[in-house]
Amino acid sequence: MFAHSCRLVFVVLAVSGCAPPDSTSEEQLRPVVPIGFDPVPIPVHNPLTRDKVLLGQQLFFDPVLSLDSTVSCATCHRPNAFFADGQAVSRGVGGRPGIRNTPSLLNIAYHQLFFWDGGSITLEHQVFGPLQNPDEMALDLASVLQRLESIPTYREAFEELFDEAPSLRGLTQALGAYQRTLLSGGARYDRYKAGDQTALSPAEIRGYKLFEGKAGCLHCHHGFLLTSLRFENNGIAISKEDSGRARVTGLEEDYGKFKVPSLRNVAQTAPYMHNGGMATLSEVIDHYDQGGRDVRGKNLLIQPLGLEEEEQADLEAFLHALTDTTLFAGMEGP
Ligand code: HEC
Ligand code: HEC
Repeated sequence: MFAHSCRLVFVVLAVSGCAPPDSTSEEQLRPVVPIGFDPVPIPVHNPLTRDKVLLGQQLFFDPVLSLDSTVSCATCHRPNAFFADGQAVSRGVGGRPGIRNTPSLLNIAYHQLFFWDGGSITLEHQVFGPLQNPDEMALDLASVLQRLESIPTYREAFEELFDEAPSLRGLTQALGAYQRTLLSGGARYDRYKAGDQTALSPAEIRGYKLFEGKAGCLHCHHGFLLTSLRFENNGIAISKEDSGRARVTGLEEDYGKFKVPSLRNVAQTAPYMHNGGMATLSEVIDHYDQGGRDVRGKNLLIQPLGLEEEEQADLEAFLHALTDTTLFAGMEGP
C-alpha cells in the first residue's frame, strides 16, 4: 500500500497523507514493487519506516549539506530527469565538473555495489562519497553534523528517530531509506511481458527479439532491471584517469570494467556511459554494431553484429519502450 501511493514520495515534501492510516513512525514499511520485480531488499541494520524515509527525503533535497549551500543530492539526481542530470559529467559546488556521468537512482535498492566501479558496498556507506567529494558537495563530515545540529527541525527529528543528536549513522540511514523507495517499472515493456500483446508496436517487438537474439544485449542486460549488475568492459575508449573496476580491485582483469547500467528509462537519461561520452541511443547502438573499439580487456561478447539500418532502428524503438509512463502520473496537483 505504501509504495503504491507513495512511490512518488519525492514529488512533494509533505506526504504524511501517504502512509496507511494506522502506520506509526516505527512500523516497518514494505514497498509494493512494480509488476515483475523482486521484493525490495531491506537490510536488517536499517529497517524502512515512514518517518525515516521522510527525513531522508528532506535531506536529499537540502543544499545545506554542501560547502556553499548550493548543491543537494537532487541537484544531480533530479527527480524530473529520472534522478539523473542530463549532463555528460556532473557538476558540483562552484560548477566543478566531476569525471563521471550521474546515474539514475531509480531502483537503486536492488544494487549490490555502488558507483560505476562498485567502490562502495552499501547505500548507506555510499553517502560519504558525494558529501566529501570536492567536485560534488565538498563538505567535511564534522561540518555536516554541525550544520544539522544547528537546525532545530533536524535536531528534533534525529532525537526522535535515532535517540541521538544528528549523527552520521542517522544521516546515512535516512538517505538510504529514502532512496530504497525510488522504484520504477511501469513501462510498455512490462505490460507486454505481462501478456498484453498490443503494448508494443511491431517495430518494438522486432527490436525486443534482436535485443535477446542477434544483438546479444541480453548477455549483460537481463533480469527485471535489464542489468546483470556485474562489471564488464563493453569496448568503449577508457581514459587514463579512470580504469573502472580495476581502481577498486587492483586487478588487471578488471581494467576498463564498469557496472552494467539498468536500461530502464534509458531513453530519458542521455548522455550515456560512465563518462557520458555518447550523446544518443543511436550512437550507442552503432558502437555495439561495430563490435566496440579495439581496446584492452574488451569482453569477447562485443563483436560486430551486422545489423541492417532497419534493425538498428527497431532496437532503438525497443529501448524507448522501457520508459516508465506512470512515474510522473502523480505530479499534477496536490
Ligand atoms: C555533483 C553531482 C552529484 C551530487 C551532488 C550527488 N551525486 Fe550521487 N552520483 C553522482 C555521480 C557522478 C555518480 C557516479 C559516481 C561514480 O560512479 O564514481 C553518483 C553516484 C551515486 C550513487 C550510486 C549509483 C550507482 O548506480 O551505483 C548513489 C546511490 C548516489 N549517487 C546517491 C547520492 C546521494 C544520496 C547524494 C547526496 C548526499 C548524492 N548522490 C549527491 C553525482 C552526484
Ligand atoms: C559484455 C556486456 C554487454 C553487452 C553484451 C551489452 N552491454 Fe550495454 N553496457 C555494458 C556496460 C558495461 C555498460 C556501461 C559501460 C561504461 O559506462 O563504460 C553498458 C552501457 C549501455 C548503455 C548506456 C546506458 C547508460 O545509462 O549509460 C546502453 C544504452 C546499452 N549498454 C545498451 C546495450 C545494447 C542495446 C546492447 C546490445 C546491442 C548491449 N548494451 C550489450 C555491457 C554490455
